[in-house]
Amino acid sequence: PRPEGGGAHRRREAFLAKTVCIKSYGCQMNVYDSARMADVLAPEGYRSVASPEDADLVILNTCHIREKAADKIYSELGRLRVLKEARAARGRPMLLAVAGCVAQAEGAEMLRRAPALDIVVGPQSYHRLPDLVRRASRGAGPGLVDTEFPVDPKFDSLPAPSAPGSVSAFLTIQEGCDKFCAFCVVPYTRGAEFSRPAAQILAEARHLVALGTREITLLGQNVNAYHGAAPDGAGEWRLGRLIRALAAIDGLARIRYTTSHPSDVDAQQIAAHAEIDKLMPFLHLPVQSGSDRVLAAMNRRHARSDYLRIVAALRTARPDIALSSDFIVGHPGETEADFQATLDLVREVGFAQAYSFKYSPRPGTPAAAEEDQVPEQEKSERLARLQALIESQQRAFNEGTAGRTVPVLLDRPGRRQGQIAGRTPWMQAVHVPVADDRELARHLGRIRPVEILAVRATSLAGRIAPAANAA
Ligand code: 5AD
Ligand code: SF4
Repeated sequence: PRPEGGGAHRRREAFLAKTVCIKSYGCQMNVYDSARMADVLAPEGYRSVASPEDADLVILNTCHIREKAADKIYSELGRLRVLKEARAARGRPMLLAVAGCVAQAEGAEMLRRAPALDIVVGPQSYHRLPDLVRRASRGAGPGLVDTEFPVDPKFDSLPAPSAPGSVSAFLTIQEGCDKFCAFCVVPYTRGAEFSRPAAQILAEARHLVALGTREITLLGQNVNAYHGAAPDGAGEWRLGRLIRALAAIDGLARIRYTTSHPSDVDAQQIAAHAEIDKLMPFLHLPVQSGSDRVLAAMNRRHARSDYLRIVAALRTARPDIALSSDFIVGHPGETEADFQATLDLVREVGFAQAYSFKYSPRPGTPAAAEEDQVPEQEKSERLARLQALIESQQRAFNEGTAGRTVPVLLDRPGRRQGQIAGRTPWMQAVHVPVADDRELARHLGRIRPVEILAVRATSLAGRIAPAANAA
């Protein structure tokens, strides 16, 4: 039983006054994890704030995928240390925590490099944040480190999402990776592949929809390796089956998923694109390189021809499907001819959008130890050439929607006043003018037919088709 009485009210006020600022770096799973960290801290009395200046607890949810991403964290910690000292001088302590993949990869080493840090917590143990925060606020002892992979998955002890319904929400269904691509730290930082039970995912999805969510993006390092326990306990579900069950939820309008691995694409996944209307015609399917030699060096477990075969099958199933990918240029051993093969694959597939990166050696990964590293200059040149090609494809893809009327899920206020923003089925961002807040509220969370009037570099502008606006 909770002690109540004389000072309880004041105590509760102090308790409620705590603030947390969570800054998310890197991938969408970090965005999801950051939201869940806020959920787990809410019962402790922590309210989320946007700026670290106003925070009693600052959490950096970090990314370790490339060197630059990790370096950013140490410079941010330098700035936060100054803030922490200034607050301490005013008698207002601030706790500083690092979560995510840098925390997992560097562990206690982070406390040595950044002594102002109070907590280092990995991506599989952040459900223990309340305990860590309580212990850290008690004493001036050394910083706390929790980078375990607990046997009880964190999902079993996280409270239900509490954020007041964002129209478009993320939902992690699978985490970790057993693929061990030669360049990648993820199998070390996120751990072994793990699928959440289907019943747990369906419950979370229903909960999100009840809070106002209309679109769910299923997240995982390899979502299409999903093999969660079936709700009735009889065997396992693959991704296609899970999407089918999610599509049956009333009120849920759109389903997406990311990221997929080519060697885990199965017939069920492809059939889902043909048969499930709520599943959007867009797929992020990283290929990394168009050269078989480099794909083998990367340990990708598929050939260039496999990728092209999957793309053809997807396009047969869903002719208007738009494709996106990730590319790495300058992987150890990559020659100009290998790079040409990548450009050639891009031309052959035709992408609606794609991300490309210079290879960045990550400590502890096999590729980092290779001798035939590609010079930085070479990497930069190849990246520029690839990005020019990708940009021209993206522009051409976007221009294909000019003048058409397309269904747009209006999911957020625009960045500018008098604007609402949303996405087409093919993931293109669209901005639409609105007269006032009332009109904005009327459209938010709705799918409206939008006439595309202008095509910009990475987004579209349009207006709600007149007939729909009158409705
Ligand atoms: N260097 C550069 N890019 C990388 N990625 C993963 N590891 C590295 C690395 N060491 C890219 C891959 C992956 C995306 C999330 O990040 O393209 O698909
Ligand atoms: Fe990294 Fe490869 Fe796993 Fe993707 S599939 S997370 S690139 S190891």
